[in-house]
Amino acid sequence: MKRNRYYLLVLSIVFGLFSCKNESKNDLALNSKNSTENSSIESKVEALLKKMTLEEKVGQMNQYTGFWDVTGPTPKEGNQALKYEHLKKGLVGSMINVTGSKNVRAVQKIAVEESRLGIPLIIGFDVIHGFKTLSPIPLAESASWDMDAIELSAKVAAKEAAASGINWTFAPMVDVSRDARWGRVMEGAGEDAYLGSKIATARVHGFQGADLSSKETIAACAKHFAAYGFAESGKDYNTVDIGTSTLYNVIFPPFIAAKNAGVRTFMNSFNEINGIPATGSAFLQREILKKQWGFDGFIVSDWGSINEMVAHRQAKNGKEAAEIAANAGSDMDMESHLYVSELVNLVNEGKVKESVIDDAVRRILRVKFELGLFENPYKYCDETYEKDVVGSKEINEAVLDVAKKSIVLLKNENNVLPLKKEGQKIALIGALADDKTSPLGNWRIGAEDGTAVSVLEGMQKYKGNTLFFEKGAEFVSGETVFAKELNINVSDKSEFSKATAIAKKVDVVVMVLGEHGYQSGEGRSRSSLGLPGVQQELLEAVYKANSNIVLVLNNGRPLAVTWADEHIPAIVEAWQLGTQSGNAIAQVLYGDYNPSGKLPMTFPRSVGQVPIYYNVKSTGRPNMPAPGEVFWSHYSDITNKPLYPFGYGLSYTTFSYTDINVKNVKDNSFEISVTLTNTGNVTGKEVAQLYLKDDYASVTRPVKELKGFELVKLNPNESKTITFLLTENELGFYNNQGDFIVESGDFTVFVGGDSEAELTTKFELK
Ligand code: BGC
Repeated sequence: MKRNRYYLLVLSIVFGLFSCKNESKNDLALNSKNSTENSSIESKVEALLKKMTLEEKVGQMNQYTGFWDVTGPTPKEGNQALKYEHLKKGLVGSMINVTGSKNVRAVQKIAVEESRLGIPLIIGFDVIHGFKTLSPIPLAESASWDMDAIELSAKVAAKEAAASGINWTFAPMVDVSRDARWGRVMEGAGEDAYLGSKIATARVHGFQGADLSSKETIAACAKHFAAYGFAESGKDYNTVDIGTSTLYNVIFPPFIAAKNAGVRTFMNSFNEINGIPATGSAFLQREILKKQWGFDGFIVSDWGSINEMVAHRQAKNGKEAAEIAANAGSDMDMESHLYVSELVNLVNEGKVKESVIDDAVRRILRVKFELGLFENPYKYCDETYEKDVVGSKEINEAVLDVAKKSIVLLKNENNVLPLKKEGQKIALIGALADDKTSPLGNWRIGAEDGTAVSVLEGMQKYKGNTLFFEKGAEFVSGETVFAKELNINVSDKSEFSKATAIAKKVDVVVMVLGEHGYQSGEGRSRSSLGLPGVQQELLEAVYKANSNIVLVLNNGRPLAVTWADEHIPAIVEAWQLGTQSGNAIAQVLYGDYNPSGKLPMTFPRSVGQVPIYYNVKSTGRPNMPAPGEVFWSHYSDITNKPLYPFGYGLSYTTFSYTDINVKNVKDNSFEISVTLTNTGNVTGKEVAQLYLKDDYASVTRPVKELKGFELVKLNPNESKTITFLLTENELGFYNNQGDFIVESGDFTVFVGGDSEAELTTKFELK
């Protein structure tokens, strides 16, 4: 049956105009204050722009990295001397990788006190999950499904970074990805656009706060625009070729959420998308982001991505790449050095209009004014304040809090966990268990090696048991962020016997296995998803000696630990949890914190299932026609089911979902209510999740999609009615023309503790 269709005003959804209805008096007062501030910023921007020469304007679009001792002697030759000269001439708008208030003051001083107009630099840095004190990697934090904790984590990261001179972070990365092979899944919020949008909002709010000019907040950057997470075969920087439906319904939503949360910058991406490098895509940058979404901040290129358009073979040479990128709306050149060398000529030759340059410079200056840099360029450069803030108790408490919340309990047969606190002999096995660097994860360039609390240190704080430690096998050595390949131990099993001997003597074995912190991240794709090196063999050897094992996984991506799931009684997903890692893990193992995390990405059974995600399409042949038949969408050697589904995670207590009801509250809004009960013996938290299925649609829709969740804390036997509201925002979707539409018809709802939720009801949208 052909269904009625009506189009919603796309703009009202995209720009969040619905929220105006709920604006309080305070919000209105704030808005009118903001609009006065905005108009005064706009007039300051215009006044400054009028004073600038073309060279100086282009200078604002130029960003350099600063890997030299800025407080040392002035560089005399080469690239560094050139950068120094450009700083003095006002030909640099931004520096990155200059940190510490003393160093930042030194570069800022050159720009402000030696250049003609004294325009301050915006100082950027990859504050991805903290600066010096680290929270869990973003994928891990996303497993908390706790927006307050995630916001707090970004807030303290901003505070510590700002105290060290930084005023702009290249985060959050909001790239949705369904491919665990891609190393950068560690840096994002996982596979889901809805969860990813909520997390994008929380992170932007955390970094930027309510007042960008405060010395505790920094500008955020939504990256990588767009579709970087869809690199073919999970190989970093690889080609992306996706359809309109995926682009609009899966990839764009977290970027829209970041924009609506007020993110001040975007970064474009290394990949091409459907034949056009994103850096040179006028469709993405000018048409979608700036025109349709009305974004008035600026876009920075990714590192060298303007020049990489030559390698993509879309631009003939660097000059042409600069022309394409600037015309496409890429406002600032990160480390290609092409805007500063080519744009003036390109304008003079008529290939780039001066209005294009003016537009980019306006955007950059606007953000600098908002940060308060013109009022006081040294406001982030207070060394005494820096000493008080960096590594403070407040920041360590916040990162410990989010670290505990990020842990996911994957299996707990016979209640092996929590561990008893007294009278037990426990063997802790695995090189990662006493590693103080790996738990920092990747993207931790501000942090010192060896500053994480190890699992060994965390467990040693519990003194009632006898704890033995054996590595069992060395893991890696000599790794750095720039190392080409990690030196994984794939052959040395000489220490296995020590581990098995100790395992035989104890009540419980805790094994910490998985990936080193540098095995995920940029350029760190993997073609296998098992435990690296000899660790699987170590696990099996120890299992033969004592099968009462708690496996603690450290990893930056989903792993295919199928053997472990079949044999090991307890499995704890502990990712890379940052500075307070060992304390968080010990508190969960000993039951001082009841785990509540839920997976933000599906865990596959084998790498051959990848990409694997819960919100798949039905296909024309979704089910086996009759037992044993062949011609349906499946593999002949493995089930379609994942190892652990999206949204999955256990607790030391149990929960039940009952009494699902649906109520049509307004024309196109429905309230779904369920009763959630803690049916176990201890207090616990549960993430109640709602999934929606549009039964039939003019464009095929996924089998289900997350459209609501709530984190609920309940005492034993306590129940709570949870209500989810579904409005047109949740019921609609983008068609292949990029219009947001809502179609009438039947919908099915599923509610439960993961994406395989079975409690269900239906309703009809008339
Ligand atoms: C990454 C970006 C990062 C930039 C600056 C690039 O290689 O793709 O995400 O912000 O470097 O460090």
